[in-house]
Amino acid sequence: MHTIQKSFLSTIFLVTFVAHLNPADASSNISAVLPLTATAYGTTLTTVIKIGNQSFNLLPDTGSADLWVLQPDWECYRGHHTGSSVLVPQGNCDYGNGTYTKTSTFTPHEDAWLGIHYGAGDVFGTLGFDSVQVGDIVIPRQEFGMANATNGPADKYSEGIMGLGHQVLSMTHASNYSATSALGLLSNTLWYETSLWSMVKQGMEPYFAFALDRMPFDQEIGHGGYVSFGTLPPVAHSPDFVSIPVEITKTIPASFTNGTKKITEWTLTVQSVTWNGTTYSQSYQAVVDSGNFYFIVPSDLAKGINSAFSPPAIYEPDGPLGPLYSVQCNATPPTDVGFQLGGRMLSIDSSDLIYRDWSGKCYSTVAPTVPLAGIELFFLGDYFLRNVVAVFDFGSDEMRFAARINDSSTFRAQPTSPLVASAAFASRADWLTFGLMCMVGIAALI
Ligand SMILES: *[C@@H]1O[C@H](CO)[C@@H](O)[C@H](O)[C@H]1NC(C)=O
Ligand SMILES: *[C@@H]1O[C@H](CO)[C@@H](O)[C@H](O)[C@H]1NC(C)=O
Ligand SMILES: *[C@@H]1O[C@H](CO)[C@@H](O)[C@H](O)[C@H]1NC(C)=O
Ligand SMILES: *[C@@H]1O[C@H](CO)[C@@H](O)[C@H](O)[C@H]1NC(C)=O
Ligand SMILES: *[C@@H]1O[C@H](CO)[C@@H](O)[C@H](O)[C@H]1NC(C)=O
Ligand SMILES: *[C@@H]1O[C@H](CO)[C@@H](O)[C@H](O)[C@H]1NC(C)=O
Ligand SMILES: *[C@@H]1O[C@H](CO)[C@@H](O)[C@H](O)[C@H]1NC(C)=O
Ligand SMILES: *[C@@H]1O[C@H](CO)[C@@H](O)[C@H](O)[C@H]1NC(C)=O
Repeated sequence: MHTIQKSFLSTIFLVTFVAHLNPADASSNISAVLPLTATAYGTTLTTVIKIGNQSFNLLPDTGSADLWVLQPDWECYRGHHTGSSVLVPQGNCDYGNGTYTKTSTFTPHEDAWLGIHYGAGDVFGTLGFDSVQVGDIVIPRQEFGMANATNGPADKYSEGIMGLGHQVLSMTHASNYSATSALGLLSNTLWYETSLWSMVKQGMEPYFAFALDRMPFDQEIGHGGYVSFGTLPPVAHSPDFVSIPVEITKTIPASFTNGTKKITEWTLTVQSVTWNGTTYSQSYQAVVDSGNFYFIVPSDLAKGINSAFSPPAIYEPDGPLGPLYSVQCNATPPTDVGFQLGGRMLSIDSSDLIYRDWSGKCYSTVAPTVPLAGIELFFLGDYFLRNVVAVFDFGSDEMRFAARINDSSTFRAQPTSPLVASAAFASRADWLTFGLMCMVGIAALI
């Protein structure tokens, strides 16, 4: 806890310092820099957002779009809402302690409800409007969800989620609609102005950014870096950004976006992956997801990278967290790991390839996808983001990455290598269908 106190103090100093350097920015542009707390041994991030003047620890999630917080007397359950769900004590869901209490400025949204399907968990609740405050940015009347039922588990700290995905991913539904399956939550959604878009309406430049810090892998909680809105985070970075267009996620069917294929997730193409002098040259689409810490990759790529640990990682198809590779905590990770994006090879620090769980057991952060009913997506999560300053620009639909300075990771100038077409993979892509819509960290822990 001392670490956190200290980093909050240094953040206040940094923010003041930055504002002092750019007084014009502060008056003409609204922006916010928020410190992140890394929890659950660095596998989850939270930041403090105010709703109705009450402060909450929320997970800023690029993989989903809705803002929600727990309401008093919320219920924790096991299983799925449509199948056999069993009510269990709140403690089993591992959330933080705060809940939203309705204020004098609260108004309900009577004819709609919140029903979100994450990668492996669901959240249900009511909807309403109240003031939302992100740093100094105040949205006087913002729609948000109050969760009354969820299956967790979370990180023992967060009390909700702030979605930073495109509006089309939001999952609120009309009262006269009842979802009969988890996939039913992904369709028949209502349009509303999410908090991110409300901030732009007030004059914020249309981008946000992450700069994630590492902490010792056996430290449960500590400073996790920054998330910033309409400005860059206060960290040293290379001036050289690589810009990559956000793509339509091929495997997400048009029926989930009102009949027309649209940009949904923060998706880009991974052109190739290298480790220990080996190159995997089959490109694939991946979602850049702050709510998920893994590198979720095609299964043969996961096998290749994980066999290069010394001693090699061991495949655990039925691990407590789904199919994963376990490693000895003192294993030597593969070296020279790089992901090629936008024609550039981005190095990944070897320390980002191992994490520990609550019990002290260690795993590789490179994992195969979990197909749900034949459905799969790939991800670049927080352990990827730790290597860069990452800008998510929804004004120009692009992501920009720059290397951290004084960080062991760097962009290495390297020409784009020709991509080798693979018939086996081309046909595989055909049967990939949409499923893990927004795999947040809490869901990934199930
Ligand atoms: C906000 O600041 C940036 C530079 O930091 C500038 O390019 C932009 O025009 C400003 N926008 C407004 C609305 O003042
Ligand atoms: C929240 O705080 C602001 C500023 O202090 C105040 O104007 C507003 O009335 C407060 N809202 C509630 C519901 O207390
Ligand atoms: C949660 O809210 C929804 C929508 O209002 C309602 O249908 C449901 O019964 C509530 N569940 C609980 C456990 O309160
Ligand atoms: C929640 O409350 C419990 C019991 O008072 C306390 O031990 C725990 O530290 C609290 N959690 C947080 C995140 O403040
Ligand atoms: C549900 O309610 C909306 C208005 O809230 C209405 O437009 C729609 O037709 C209704 N759908 C059904 C199936 O009753
Ligand atoms: C969906 O498409 C229909 C017809 O193209 C349009 O009228 C409607 O406004 C769209 N709904 C949303 C939520 O975009
Ligand atoms: C990969 O590199 C690491 C670090 O140099 C080494 O320990 C490991 O044995 C290598 N793996 C293979 C399969 O060569
Ligand atoms: C990087 O670290 C070195 C050594 O600690 C220091 O001298 C240098 O000023 C740092 N550079 C930046 C840009 O922070």
